[in-house]
Amino acid sequence: MTESTSRESHELVIVLDFGAQYGQLIARRIRECHVYCEILPHDTPAQAILARRPKGIVFSGGPSSVYDDGAPLCDPALFQAGIPILGICYGMQLMARALGGEVAGGGRREYGKTEITVLDHSDLFQGLNPRLIAWMSHGDRVEKAPPGFLETARSSGVLAAMADPARKLFGLQFHPEVVHTPWGIELFRNFLYQQCACTGTWTTESVVATSVQTIRDQVGRGKVVCALSGGVDSAVTAALVHQSVGDQLTCIFMDHGFLRRGEAEQVVRTFGENFHVNLVHVQAQDRFLKRLDGVTDPEEKRRIIGDEYANVLEEGARKLGEVEFLAQGTLYPDVIESGTRQAARIKTHHNVGGLPETLELKLVEPVRLLFKDEVRAVGEELGLPDEIVWRHPFPGPGLAIRILGEVTPEGLDTLREADAIITDEIMAAGLYRRLFQCFGVLAPIRSVGVMGDQRTYGSTIVLRAVTGDDAMTADWAQLPYEVLSHISTRIINEVSGVNRVVYDISSKPPATIEWE
Ligand code: XMP
Repeated sequence: MTESTSRESHELVIVLDFGAQYGQLIARRIRECHVYCEILPHDTPAQAILARRPKGIVFSGGPSSVYDDGAPLCDPALFQAGIPILGICYGMQLMARALGGEVAGGGRREYGKTEITVLDHSDLFQGLNPRLIAWMSHGDRVEKAPPGFLETARSSGVLAAMADPARKLFGLQFHPEVVHTPWGIELFRNFLYQQCACTGTWTTESVVATSVQTIRDQVGRGKVVCALSGGVDSAVTAALVHQSVGDQLTCIFMDHGFLRRGEAEQVVRTFGENFHVNLVHVQAQDRFLKRLDGVTDPEEKRRIIGDEYANVLEEGARKLGEVEFLAQGTLYPDVIESGTRQAARIKTHHNVGGLPETLELKLVEPVRLLFKDEVRAVGEELGLPDEIVWRHPFPGPGLAIRILGEVTPEGLDTLREADAIITDEIMAAGLYRRLFQCFGVLAPIRSVGVMGDQRTYGSTIVLRAVTGDDAMTADWAQLPYEVLSHISTRIINEVSGVNRVVYDISSKPPATIEWE
């Protein structure tokens, strides 16, 4: 879906980003209320914002103080535009300062859960309790609301919320978007439905319908190629494009030999047999293994795999003849990240599914404005199987970066078997959807053990299981001992050559999720 089509077909709310830690969460909460929203930089000119005809605007929080030199500002014309605005934390302080209120800086930081008392239930707090638990995280605070504003909530002497109902301007010192403010979604609903007069047009059905129309308009009679990885993003992308232009789509599914057990079969079954998609299944296992022969450095492994992936795909795409478009499963968080953040390179996360630029294909990115949970909902709507829709993230280089050191066919067999047992047991315990990822790593360590009356000198499997919402941070999962015990016993009994299983109890940061 392109921005312009969502613009025309859905009610829109704009979130202005002032450097918030929780900016994406605000957008997700709004979309959970069935209202489409986009995140834009704080200094987007009012004219550009108003041209999009938003029903409302939300100012995010941010790490700055309104008194900092170069503190991020918004175009002041927004306050005169007659559009409802909700300022959160820094967004509230900015609003207060811009409209003649007083902000106190440099005081005691307030961080964590706080009880607030509601003073006025007539707008955002309609239907909510008089006392509520809210999540605070701020240094500055609004000391005096601007003229025309009422105090609508307080927390231990601090102004927690303010409102100018006539101009429909609202400020919150706390964060309604985080889970620690459990009723926050009600507040968003009040803002969106009562103040902004939204009706909730952003539903999975409408997303599918809009995407299909947009893809048809973009692609016309052209041919599209899509590289399937087995993951949910490329699967939903392919399914949407297929629904839109049928046989004009060809999917290339490459088996580089580093997939999990049963993965290739499942992709072929789902797309080739059930959906009747034109599917080219490239068996490239030998090529990859040959290029990785003797290579042990993690970054070098990643580089070689990325390079070979591009080569094989290019060959595959060229064989298809006249192809004009490449369908790619880029998600909204990637769009936001690449637009705003500058991070140090920890690992080369090459984008599997990307084709070399030399092919000069035009991009079709039907999920580029969606969050992961929305992509999953679309996948369900399109009838993709649960195993694909709910699959954990899996790195493009696959098992090759979960075998530390050199990748060998024997190592791959060992890891694939151990990994299948881990997934099996986690699923049997009903924990799969609660974990962000769970998998095995084959460590380059051999150790002494005893089996029967025999000494063994075998391999070590590391069990890695993490919780979290995104890949930026993750906690090691506190798996029940019983589950750990089943996994360990089965791996040692069933996977030949393994005599030891250890559990990785490191969180990210400082560890990363993958070992290489
Ligand atoms: P790390 O190990 O950096 O991983 O904590 C964060 C997330 O990214 C996944 N990952 C990759 N995904 N290509 C991908 O598409 C890659 O090369 C790659 N490397 C890591 C990892 O599984 C985790 O979800």
